Amino acid sequence: MTDQDHNHQLYIETVGCQMNMLDSELVVAALRRDGYVLTDSPKQADTILFNTCSVREHAEHKIYSALGRLKYVRRNNPQKVIGVMGCMAQKDQDLIFRRAPHVDFVAGTGQLAEIPRLIQETRSAEKRAPHKAVSLGRRDGSVSEIAGSFQSYDPLRDPEMRPTPFQAFVRIMIGCDKFCTYCVVPTTRGPEQSRPPSQIANEVSVLAGQGVKEITLLGQTVNSYRHTENGQLYQLSDLLERIHDTDGIERIRFVTNYPKDMTDDLLQAVRDLPKALRYLHVPLQHGCNEVLSRMKRGYTVEDYDDMMHRIRATIPNCSVSSDFIVGFCGETEQAHQKSMKALRDHRFKNSFIFKYSERDGTKAERLFPDDVDDSTKRRRNNEMLDLQNRISEEDNSEFIGGKVRVLVEGPSKSATKQAARDAEPMPGKPLATQLAGRSECDRIVVFDGNPRLAGSTAEVEVHDCTGTTLIGSIVTREVQHGSTELLPILS
Ligand code: SAH
Ligand code: SF4
Ligand code: F3S
Repeated sequence: MTDQDHNHQLYIETVGCQMNMLDSELVVAALRRDGYVLTDSPKQADTILFNTCSVREHAEHKIYSALGRLKYVRRNNPQKVIGVMGCMAQKDQDLIFRRAPHVDFVAGTGQLAEIPRLIQETRSAEKRAPHKAVSLGRRDGSVSEIAGSFQSYDPLRDPEMRPTPFQAFVRIMIGCDKFCTYCVVPTTRGPEQSRPPSQIANEVSVLAGQGVKEITLLGQTVNSYRHTENGQLYQLSDLLERIHDTDGIERIRFVTNYPKDMTDDLLQAVRDLPKALRYLHVPLQHGCNEVLSRMKRGYTVEDYDDMMHRIRATIPNCSVSSDFIVGFCGETEQAHQKSMKALRDHRFKNSFIFKYSERDGTKAERLFPDDVDDSTKRRRNNEMLDLQNRISEEDNSEFIGGKVRVLVEGPSKSATKQAARDAEPMPGKPLATQLAGRSECDRIVVFDGNPRLAGSTAEVEVHDCTGTTLIGSIVTREVQHGSTELLPILS
């Protein structure tokens, strides 16, 4: 097949964490340079990519079902190229070809730069044969060989591919060396490697030049960042200081933090740097020491309490969010109640709560039986969610009557859905739409306003709330002619 015979339409489906969102952005940006345009129709597309996640079984099921549905689409359109990238590609490798023989290539998380070549080679081959670009397994060589086989893929960006034009992710490290017993990430993402600070600072400047105002630094354990450049050791606090004064950048956040690496210098940096958001995502995972030890998290509940105390003492009004796993091997009812207690004690802004999902090749799979039945996992999950939701709603209600500063992201999800329903807007309908953004403590805020406010910072008075959202109205946006008088916004 020649290059002219295909339509250069790319369909990409992304599941998993923010790392995957960033990876998809970068792969799409590279393919755009080869002339591809995005489509939301897999039928229309001549190239279909799945960016996959292996963290829980459910995430893998979703992808295998989607691949199953494509079997017939492909049968009717033999020229379509189908690729699987990301964590499942690195973990399952040939298994993907066995379960879905119509997949043309797999590209692991450390091999994303190969994707344009893999597509091209598949398309130009006389006869279809599966192609594979994956990195070494964690026992397949020396540490440096394995690390070398996982390439950080951070080419310069395409502004059109960001979540919004003024928000961007910046990877500061790849991989993970913590080896929590339940987790596949050290296998799928390889050894922990921090990127040089000069490269990161350069990327932040380029993004700022393209109009980005908010940067989210990404790493599996982002506060374990360490890199020595020109004889100077940079930790996350040093990196934050280095990028802080980049012109145009207004907000910086970083995810996800590892409790044991939450050092005082980092907390002080968050307190002292005005652009750092007052928000830390630092998962506890469980409230019982025996479970934490089976998880090999490397800290106790008391260590975590001490960390929370340091956070509260150092950064006033800092919001903290967590992840929890319920139903991990050997979790008794008493142990579960300890996770509930931890929720009550720490009053997280929000928590992501997951039912334990046994993963092939992890230590937990080898060492402990997955002995909590699914209905118990579901019940414990719901109990945690209900409690967290009550706490979030109570804490959000403290904001009612006060004001928050919001970076406006654009129309809220419900406004976007409504716009899709109103194919023809009613004549005379006011311009104001429900907009959404985040406060400096990372709370979602919705309010009415003109969509052109997207990308600006607004002050919003809070009237109401739910467990997940503050609801308010815009007070001010502009400062008139140097005076400090604040103007009301008229749509
Ligand atoms: N690097 C991040 C999280 C990566 S995975 C960190 O260490 O915090 C995101 C979340 O998925 C984890 O925090 C954990 O709560 C959950 N998770 C990981 N493996 C899991 C498994 N096997 N079953 C259920 N949840 C899991
Ligand atoms: Fe997984 Fe633990 Fe690494 Fe997080 S720190 S990615 S949970 S192994
Ligand atoms: Fe999933 Fe890989 Fe992220 S397993 S959570 S996409 S690092």
